[in-house]
Amino acid sequence: MAADSDTKPPTGACLLEVEDLRTGIVTDRGVVRAVDGVSFTLERGRTVGIVGESGAGKTMLARSIMGLLPTTDVIREGSVRLDGDEIIGRSHKEMRSLWGTEMSMVPQDPMTSLNPVRRIGAQIMEPLRLRLGLDRREAKATALALLDSVRIPDPEKRLREYPHQLSGGMRQRVVIAAALASGPRLLFADEPTTALDVTVQAQILNLLKRIREERDMAIMLVTHDLGVVANHADEIIVMYAGRVVERAPTKVLFTEMRMPYTAALLASIPRLDTPVHTKLEVIQGRPADLATLATGCRFAPRCQFADQQCLDSEPPLSPGTSEGHEFRCWHPLDPPKLSRTTGAVAVAVTSTNHDDRQGA
Ligand SMILES: Nc1ncnc2c1ncn2[C@@H]1O[C@H](COP(=O)(O)OP(=O)(O)OP(=O)(O)O)[C@@H](O)[C@H]1O
Ligand code: SF4
Ligand SMILES: [Mg+2]
Repeated sequence: MAADSDTKPPTGACLLEVEDLRTGIVTDRGVVRAVDGVSFTLERGRTVGIVGESGAGKTMLARSIMGLLPTTDVIREGSVRLDGDEIIGRSHKEMRSLWGTEMSMVPQDPMTSLNPVRRIGAQIMEPLRLRLGLDRREAKATALALLDSVRIPDPEKRLREYPHQLSGGMRQRVVIAAALASGPRLLFADEPTTALDVTVQAQILNLLKRIREERDMAIMLVTHDLGVVANHADEIIVMYAGRVVERAPTKVLFTEMRMPYTAALLASIPRLDTPVHTKLEVIQGRPADLATLATGCRFAPRCQFADQQCLDSEPPLSPGTSEGHEFRCWHPLDPPKLSRTTGAVAVAVTSTNHDDRQGA
């Protein structure tokens, strides 16, 4: 695949180092460049939020790192190092041995990952027996401890139940428990709260945070909602059309964002301080077609600041003023422009200390 990359030198000290990762899907219409030159690092005990609209490549990025891709018609290039070991190029069998034990995924739709006709207990205990070689009694004790750790009340009873007997929030807790079963060091949570109401959403996000701290894990939190990552990620990576278009430590992103797409995403989320019935901004136009990408900035057809330079060449990732801040734009927003676009230059990143217990 073609070209430009966000390549950063490896630090050698990180749990995950992704460098110039490219994943293309070969289709009749051409190669869909779902992940196109993405680089980032993630340390143990930290959460990186990956945000972007539908189709930006968030899930494909997570799947590309895990090697959870079809074996045919997919091109995967670049480098992914886990604790310094290169995992791109490993066979499917070798990758399988990492799933669950080294890295695990809470998938986008909890219902699709739970078998509707099998009891919760069987679904959690089976991988424990297969992957960790536990006998039935040990597997049951571990499953009970896992359900307890994700704050599911009456875990003994839940083990005997089927997925449809649980609420959406409880199902998501079960899926998280299953993902944690083999003690992974890295957890991919793909839209873990999308289908949940706001209170349950906060509980699940706080649950992930607590588990991350207890286990010293790293989390990659994938979402389309900047609001979700505002209080739950140490760093935010904004993706557009398979590319990283802005990245920064969380507070820096909200106070110093420079990329018009990031500002547009922020303007599209509801805010507590706007009057009731205020119309939310929508990002005009459609996301780029990843099989037929034009030269130039991929956001240009939808950007109110686009000019000829934007159409002619794609901006590189450039450093912002704060450490760890990078953005991809020829005409970055200054505070007055940001103020016009989002209605607020500074967005308070508040702390949420909600209890993560079910129903709390
Ligand atoms: N099997 C496939 N064949 C062709 N294109 C695909 C396939 N899977 C994903 N894509 C394309 O890859 C791009 C990235 O998809 P991805 O699922 O990663 O998006 P996403 O950011 O996770 O979106 P969402 O928020 O809707 O989950 C999209 O343009 C999508 O259409
Ligand atoms: S490079 Fe141009 S088109 Fe792209 S986001 Fe910046 S101003 Fe808009
Ligand atoms: Mg997705």
